[in-house]
Amino acid sequence: MRTPSWRNGRVVCVGAAVLLALAHSAPSAAEGEHDRMIRGGPFSLVAHTGREVTDRDFRGKFMLIYFGYTSCPDVCPLGLQVVSEAMRALAEQEDRVQPLFISFDPSRDTVERLAHYLHRFHPRILGLTGTKEQTLAAANAYGVNVSAAYAEKPRGYSMNHSSFTYLVGPDGRLRLMFRDGVSPRAMADAIRKQLGSQPQTAAE
Ligand code: NI
Repeated sequence: MRTPSWRNGRVVCVGAAVLLALAHSAPSAAEGEHDRMIRGGPFSLVAHTGREVTDRDFRGKFMLIYFGYTSCPDVCPLGLQVVSEAMRALAEQEDRVQPLFISFDPSRDTVERLAHYLHRFHPRILGLTGTKEQTLAAANAYGVNVSAAYAEKPRGYSMNHSSFTYLVGPDGRLRLMFRDGVSPRAMADAIRKQLGSQPQTAAE
């Protein structure tokens, strides 16, 4: 079991009711192989619109990223519901934030399936998928834990996964991690603070 660690003192994890400032200690030399910093990172994927995208396409905007899979019975729909409501709560500032749903189940989550699935959520959520390697690289960069429980039917498997929502700044740096169970209001408030501390400049 990999334990996420946040030791750079920059990234703040926002829980259901608490804003948790994280330890400032520098990474220690004794850090185990499963104990690593979550920094986020580059990705190269294909959107549910069919367009190829990379993280660099969103520079100048905040990215609000949720990792999941469309066959998820409960956790992912709830996470995307929270993202959807938080986006609505941002009101006129909403267009400074690009919400992304990145699938880690590309064998089932085709572009078409993502497009169909996302109908029920906020219309600006962009679904991203890709090859197995591309989606795994994206998930790994954000420390997403995924394990698949294969059922007898080859396409009927479920996937246990960690469930954080990530806020990435216009510079591509990870700013906040929201825990599972955060309210849409708390998420929107925390995003608004980040928007307020960031001078509003036109995207390149
Ligand atoms: Ni899920």
